[in-house]
Amino acid sequence: MPEPSTTHISVRNLSVHYGGQPALKNVSVNIPDRKITAVLGPSGCGKTTFLRCLNRLVDTVDGVSVSGQVLVDGEDLFDPAAEVTHIRKKMGLLSQRPYPLPMSIYDNVAYGPRIHGQSDRGELDALVEHHLKLAGLWDEVKGRLRAPATSLSIGQQQRLCLARGLAVGPEIILADEPTSALDPISSAHIEGKFKELRDQYTIVIVTHILRQARRLADYVIFMYMGELVEHGPAAEVFNAPREKQTREYISGVIS
Ligand SMILES: Nc1ncnc2c1ncn2[C@@H]1O[C@H](COP(=O)(O)OP(=O)(O)OP(=O)(O)O)[C@@H](O)[C@H]1O
Ligand SMILES: [Mg+2]
Repeated sequence: MPEPSTTHISVRNLSVHYGGQPALKNVSVNIPDRKITAVLGPSGCGKTTFLRCLNRLVDTVDGVSVSGQVLVDGEDLFDPAAEVTHIRKKMGLLSQRPYPLPMSIYDNVAYGPRIHGQSDRGELDALVEHHLKLAGLWDEVKGRLRAPATSLSIGQQQRLCLARGLAVGPEIILADEPTSALDPISSAHIEGKFKELRDQYTIVIVTHILRQARRLADYVIFMYMGELVEHGPAAEVFNAPREKQTREYISGVIS
């Protein structure tokens, strides 16, 4: 049966074991297109594992076993015949700490477009400026594009990583606690950018900051001990949670 057109990523019966220990148990959920989906739950419940399944980075862990499907635009990422590189091109990843490449600010953003064959200087200049503006960093760095990325503050580095991710033209942004290493102002910057980008990108954000999820999320996935306990539109999950564990988490009884 075809997926409704509003689903971008469909996760079906997804289970993950690390060295035989279950980390995700039979998770099925549809992630809506061009909305912000927040993945919530206590530490160790499987949020990062879930996110890493969405781009198959989970495969890089020794002793991991995965079963189930992750359909991106209907293509199963875990099908042995899947073109993983092609599917991954649709995704940008923002991790907990910024990992800028050991090169200049300019080259960090130009890196992806260059790999994809763009070598025209004028085009690259325009791409770098456009994506630094999208990430809300342009005004701070336009006078020092040749400086090493590591000369930026951590908050600026995270926005640079966002610009670098956006520059390869993804449709999906995966973010694992993208503001947890940032000061409040830098966090607000990233959150603001996500709000601006929500209409154009499918954004999946793992966060343990409930207030952040309330501010950002259109859709919420709540996990507990490897299981998907509840999912639905943010207003429903926050205002009228159906499950006891969700209620307790939202009211701060479990954290
Ligand atoms: N590389 C790994 N090898 C073995 N076990 C792992 C590995 N990564 C995660 N786990 C285990 O899988 C479970 C889920 O971990 P995961 O990192 O997905 O949780 P999380 O919800 O992201 O937690 P946190 O909020 O602390 O980041 C945990 O029990 C964890 O110990
Ligand atoms: Mg995690």
